[in-house]
Amino acid sequence: MNNMEYIVKLGGSVITEKDKAMKINYDSLCRIGSYLRKNMPKIIVHGGGSYGHYIVHGILEKKKRLDYTDLPLISYVMDTLNREVIKCLQDYGLPVVSFPPHSICSIKNNELECETGTLKRIVEKGLIPVLYGDAVVSTGGIEILSGDTLMVFLAREYGLRKLVFLTDVDGVYVNMDKKTIIKHLNLRDPRSQLAFLRESNNIDVTGGMRAKIESLKNLPSGTLVYIVNGRKESHLSKVFVEGENPGTLIET
Ligand code: IPE
Repeated sequence: MNNMEYIVKLGGSVITEKDKAMKINYDSLCRIGSYLRKNMPKIIVHGGGSYGHYIVHGILEKKKRLDYTDLPLISYVMDTLNREVIKCLQDYGLPVVSFPPHSICSIKNNELECETGTLKRIVEKGLIPVLYGDAVVSTGGIEILSGDTLMVFLAREYGLRKLVFLTDVDGVYVNMDKKTIIKHLNLRDPRSQLAFLRESNNIDVTGGMRAKIESLKNLPSGTLVYIVNGRKESHLSKVFVEGENPGTLIET
């Protein structure tokens, strides 16, 4: 399992300080770089954290909706975060190349479309494209494209059967109070704990985790999805070096 080609998302909550506007957590970010160097992914995606979410939240508070005129600022802010991610990963010897989603992707009638020709050629050369959650042009104006949606889109596009999501929690919680994690979930198993996950009030069903799991249903069956705490070195080692599951393993 360790040598399977994979795609990884560096969650915004791992690489930035959630509660501090525009603040990168360089310790976390660069530590992840050192582990990715040991087991290189095909493609990297990162989230917006206190860069993207902060700026979009501010715009929505002021004028309630996004429009074309917001694209320059949102894309600039995400590009600023992306430059730092790229620099840190390059310092660790990863051959990463930035691919701003707003320049290759759009959403037409709720369907994501990306021009992936150049991206494919870059991957074929052994280089690693880095994409991120971003604002993209849509039928009605602009929309926020999450890194999670991009992960699923790219995994399908490249036939990648292993996805690793680095988050700031230990996996999918079944009980927030006791901090109990589900170790294994099978999305196709009707008896799986997923039904419980949807219905129970005890579970951490923040939009983030719920939306993440919902979007995984678009992956081909047999795909392995690891939800891992990207802030814990022991978890990084387990998933990237030992090829094991330190958090929640979801099978589609
Ligand atoms: C958000 O991307 C991008 C913007 C808000 C512009 P994600 O939704 O993937 O970011 P995280 O990982 O939750 O921070």
